[in-house]
Amino acid sequence: MKFPSLFSPLQIGPYQLRHRVAMAPLTRMRAARPSLVPRPLNVEYYAQRATAGGLIIAEASPVVATGFGNPAVPGIYTEAQVAGWREVVDAVHRKGGIIFLQLWHVGRVSHSSFQPGGALPVAPSAVPIPSEFKAMTADGKVVDYETPRALETSEIPLMIEAYRQAAKNALAAGFDGVEIHGANGYLVEQFLQSRSNLRTDQYGGSIENRVRFLLEVTQAAIDVWGANRVGVRLSPYGIANGSGEADPMPLYSHAVKALDQLGLAYLHFIEPRSSGAGRAEVNWQDVPSAMVLYRPLWSGVLIAAGGFTGETAESAIAEGHADAIAFGRIFISNPDLPRRLHRGYPLTPYNRKTFYGGEEVGYTDYPEHDEMA
Ligand SMILES: Cc1cc2nc3c(=O)[nH]c(=O)nc-3n(C[C@H](O)[C@H](O)[C@H](O)COP(=O)(O)O)c2cc1C
Repeated sequence: MKFPSLFSPLQIGPYQLRHRVAMAPLTRMRAARPSLVPRPLNVEYYAQRATAGGLIIAEASPVVATGFGNPAVPGIYTEAQVAGWREVVDAVHRKGGIIFLQLWHVGRVSHSSFQPGGALPVAPSAVPIPSEFKAMTADGKVVDYETPRALETSEIPLMIEAYRQAAKNALAAGFDGVEIHGANGYLVEQFLQSRSNLRTDQYGGSIENRVRFLLEVTQAAIDVWGANRVGVRLSPYGIANGSGEADPMPLYSHAVKALDQLGLAYLHFIEPRSSGAGRAEVNWQDVPSAMVLYRPLWSGVLIAAGGFTGETAESAIAEGHADAIAFGRIFISNPDLPRRLHRGYPLTPYNRKTFYGGEEVGYTDYPEHDEMA
């Protein structure tokens, strides 16, 4: 039997990928302001990274105005945002690419300066992010995180409806599917984990209750898209934004088994060795591997991300730990990453200073291999 390689085809839901080098969701903070609409610069960036039969997971996009914690992040809740995203999607489709949108709400990883009416950010419980983590306000000041306002039980169905509407909006924009952002310390993960969820209603307490919000959000997306065009991203061993479950295995085993019943397009894990990769160079080796631990509980397509090189991606696939690999930072600086990995071409290093915010520098000006002298 021939083992699959990074460059063998893969069926994801109704889509036939021609290779397994996916683009990870990457917040770049370059949408138009104040509309938070994707603009021509964003169209060019995604088009540069599209390949025939290649999967792009577009950057996390808040489903509602309370879902932001950063400036210039594109939304998916107004008509203008849908129209802006349609331009991105059309450009990716013209190159034969497949593009999912990541649906986001930051919960407590926000600041009142980003909130409608200057209100406090909302979260499962009124538990602030510890003060070793800092928030940045809308006008760029570094401050402690505020204590968020706990959502009333009666508000939770409204939040689920916001995800449902955003899933409809993504469909209207022409996307090929949606990914639920259940990772990195944001709202869905705040519900999952006991340190951020002290609720005593049906959304808190037992593992079953803490997983409920994730399942309801996922089901809302399934209602719109069908299960085989919905993915979920989790980071069981992540520590981003003050997250981290003391004993992840029981919680995430339950979540993965429950998700496995749904027939999703894929499950997407962030490997803990590069949790927090957006903020600093981190690469812990002495940590458990999410894909290895949870693969036995998952019968569908598994995407892994976090610190992969072409070589480690190839071996993760050959060894059956994952079916596809999502690349983040090196996809930023190598728009033609699938081809470079295929041919063994050298990679252009990324410049962390231009990750978040700005214009074309560090965004659309990284050359393809063939353009380099
Ligand atoms: C600039 C930047 C922005 C990111 N934005 C997101 C995001 O919007 N959603 C998400 O789930 N992960 C986000 N991440 C995490 C990446 O998707 C990925 O998991 C991480 O960078 C590790 O993969 P890498 O080692 O290939 O970069 C971001 C990472 C970086 C560096």
